[in-house]
Amino acid sequence: MPEALSWSAYSDPALPALERGRIFARAWQYIGHKDQLGDGPGYVAGRVGDIPVVITRDRDGTLRAFLNVCRHRGSVLAAGAAARETLQCPYHAWTYGLDGALKAAPRSDREPGFDCEGISLRPASVGAWGPFLFANPDPEVLPLAEVLGGLPELVAAAGVVVAELRHHARAESSVEANWKLVAENFLECYHCAVAHPGFSAVVDVSPDVYELALGDSFSSQFGPVRENGTGLDTVGEVTRSQFHFLWPNTMINIFPGRMNFSIGPVLPAGPERTERFLDYFFGPDADAAWISELLEFDGQVGAEDKVLVENVQRGVATGLIERGRLMPESERLIADFQQRVQAAVA
Ligand code: FES
Ligand SMILES: [Fe+2]
Repeated sequence: MPEALSWSAYSDPALPALERGRIFARAWQYIGHKDQLGDGPGYVAGRVGDIPVVITRDRDGTLRAFLNVCRHRGSVLAAGAAARETLQCPYHAWTYGLDGALKAAPRSDREPGFDCEGISLRPASVGAWGPFLFANPDPEVLPLAEVLGGLPELVAAAGVVVAELRHHARAESSVEANWKLVAENFLECYHCAVAHPGFSAVVDVSPDVYELALGDSFSSQFGPVRENGTGLDTVGEVTRSQFHFLWPNTMINIFPGRMNFSIGPVLPAGPERTERFLDYFFGPDADAAWISELLEFDGQVGAEDKVLVENVQRGVATGLIERGRLMPESERLIADFQQRVQAAVA
């Protein structure tokens, strides 16, 4: 068992820039979903880690991604999502087509030698899985489908048909802790019995039945429904929860019950702060009452996790202890995550 990550990695102010270049600049991450683009041309802006990106879809349906950074003086270009044919910078109104090419720059006719031709947004990579849109800041990477590997099959086996999912809501939150602590908290259920009584009353979290699985690009946790469980109506096509983590920062949750799926990234926002969002999707059979039941159930788990992780941040940030210890079995998904982090920033 290799040594656990040094605790300085959770507050070192030099690390966000290093992680941006070595991890997020070449990472596939969930950005948003197709409904955000409208029916025709449109864009959705987001970020991979802390790198601003924008995904566009043109009139022909072609998806593209770019760094969401204006080529003039570097302003972040597009915000949110919209059904429109151009991206216009809020600073001096340089206007780009959905293919990334600069179409117009105000007053450029008065500038001798200035030509819009040849100025274009810096390309990134784009990929779609059903309604889910992913971006990777690196323009030359393995396609998303190869990186997802067997993940879509696992999700289908859970009883979730991604093509039937409808977006319900996006939940945004922040955690006063390093993004890696938020990821690590997701990667073990060793804390579930202690810290999530509601969750553990529904999902059987005992180590004999709660499964952890490591893959090349993602790791998975499978938790069956507890016999005589209480707290969530688990009648429906999904009989076993699935929690997937796509390296380095996209999380997917499927709870037992009606067809449901939530997906979202953890986004570094400085060395000791994380921003996150989670897009909730449901199948056609999920009624409003069950949806609010599930959202409340998951919201409770999220609130408990926020307290846990912020507590860890306060502990590891003291700088007086070098590192902790990982439980080789219960925390092996964390060990894998930490090895990837170490290999990337070494
Ligand atoms: S920075 Fe975008 S138009 Fe000036
Ligand atoms: Fe948790």
